[in-house]
Amino acid sequence: MEKVSIGLLGFGTVGTGVVRLLTKERERLEARTGCTIQLKKVLVRNKNRPRKVLIDNRNLTTNAAEVLDDPEIDIIIELMGGIDEAYRYILRALNHKKHVITANKDLMASYGDELLMEAKKNHCDLYYEASVAGGIPILRTLTDSLAADRIQKMIGIVNGTTNYILSKMSHEGLSYEKALSSAQALGFAEADPTSDVEGLDAARKMVILSHLAYSIPVKLDDVKITGITDVTREDIIYAGKLGYTIKLVGISEVNNGAIDVRVEPTLLPDGHPLASVENENNAIYVYGTALGETMYYGPGAGEGPTAVSVMSDLLSVIRNMALGVTGNHIFLPKREMHTRKESL
Ligand code: NDP
Ligand code: HSE
Repeated sequence: MEKVSIGLLGFGTVGTGVVRLLTKERERLEARTGCTIQLKKVLVRNKNRPRKVLIDNRNLTTNAAEVLDDPEIDIIIELMGGIDEAYRYILRALNHKKHVITANKDLMASYGDELLMEAKKNHCDLYYEASVAGGIPILRTLTDSLAADRIQKMIGIVNGTTNYILSKMSHEGLSYEKALSSAQALGFAEADPTSDVEGLDAARKMVILSHLAYSIPVKLDDVKITGITDVTREDIIYAGKLGYTIKLVGISEVNNGAIDVRVEPTLLPDGHPLASVENENNAIYVYGTALGETMYYGPGAGEGPTAVSVMSDLLSVIRNMALGVTGNHIFLPKREMHTRKESL
C-alpha cells in the first residue's frame, strides 16, 4: 500500500485540528504507516468561509457526492455533526466500501449498532474514539485494555462545555451566559449548545460507554437527564461554603442485572478527585470486578485533543488496511435492533 486517500466531511473545530495535525506531523505519520496520506476532498457548507489553516481551495467542495462517490477515496472522516445527513453519508461511504472514522456521539449513541453492523457487512472499519471524552482514549480502554474484566460501574465528567462553565462560574465569578459564550468561542460547545447544557451530550456519551462496557444496548430514552441550566452562582457559592463542588456527573451502573444510567448536577465533596477536574477536562472512573477502580483523565473537548483521537483512529484504519483486517474496536452481540435505514 503506497498511498491512502482521505475524504473529510466537515472543516470546523475538529476538522481544522485534523488538517493541522496532518500537516504538522505528516513526515512522522507517514513514516509510521509506511504510506503517503493524501487529503483529497473536504466537504463544507460554505466554501467562502475564512479557514484557520491553509488548504488548497480546489480540495473544498459543497457536493457530498464528490467525496462519497470518489472511487479513489479509501477513508471518510466524518466531522460535520448532526444525525440525518451524517447517517446517510456514513452509510453511503460504507456501501462504497470506504472505511469511516467519526467523532459524532449524537449519531453513534442512537445508530451506532446499525452502522457497525453495516461496516461489518461491507468489511470496513468504523472507528469513533473521539466521540466520547475528546482526547481521552476511553473507548479503546473499555474494548481492549479492560475487555477481560466485568465492569460494574462508571462515574464521570464527560462534557467539557458544562465543566468549563461550572469552573468559570465557581472560580472566576463569570455569569452562566459569559462562561457559555467563552466555551463556544473556544470550540468546546456543540453547534447547538442546548445538548451540552441540558445534559444530552453527556447522556449520549454515557450510552456509548455503557454499551461498550456491558455489551448490552442502552437506549438514550432510558437515561435520566438533568442539565446545568438551573444551577445558579448562588448554588455554587453555598455549595463551596459547605465544602462541596457542583459538577455535571454521568453515572452508569449495573443493579441486580439492570443497567441504570443517569446524568445530573452532583454535589461532590471538595476532596473527591472529580471535584478537582477543571475547565474542559473530563475524567471517568471505571469499576471492574477483578481490576478494581481505575480513573482516566484529560482534555474532553477542543481542537487539538479531539484531533489526536481522530488521527489515532486513522492510523488504526491504515494499519488494518495494510494487514487486510477490520477492527471496529467493539464487540457486536447479535440481537434485534431499531434501524434507522427503514425509516428513511
Ligand atoms: P463545527 O460546527 O465546528 O464544524 C462543523 C463543520 O461541518 C463545518 O466545517 C461545516 O461547514 C461542516 N458542515 C456541517 N453540516 C454540514 C453539511 N450539512 N454539509 C456540509 N458540511 C457541513 O463542529 P465541530 O468540529 O466542533 O464538531 C464536529 C463533530 O465532532 C461533531 O459531531 C461534534 O459533536 C464532535 N466533537 C466535537 C468536539 C469539540 O471539541 N468541538 C469534541 C469531540 C467531538 P462550514 O465550515 O462551511 O460551516
Ligand atoms: N460539546 C462537547 C463537550 C464536545 O463539551 O464535551 C466534546 O464531545
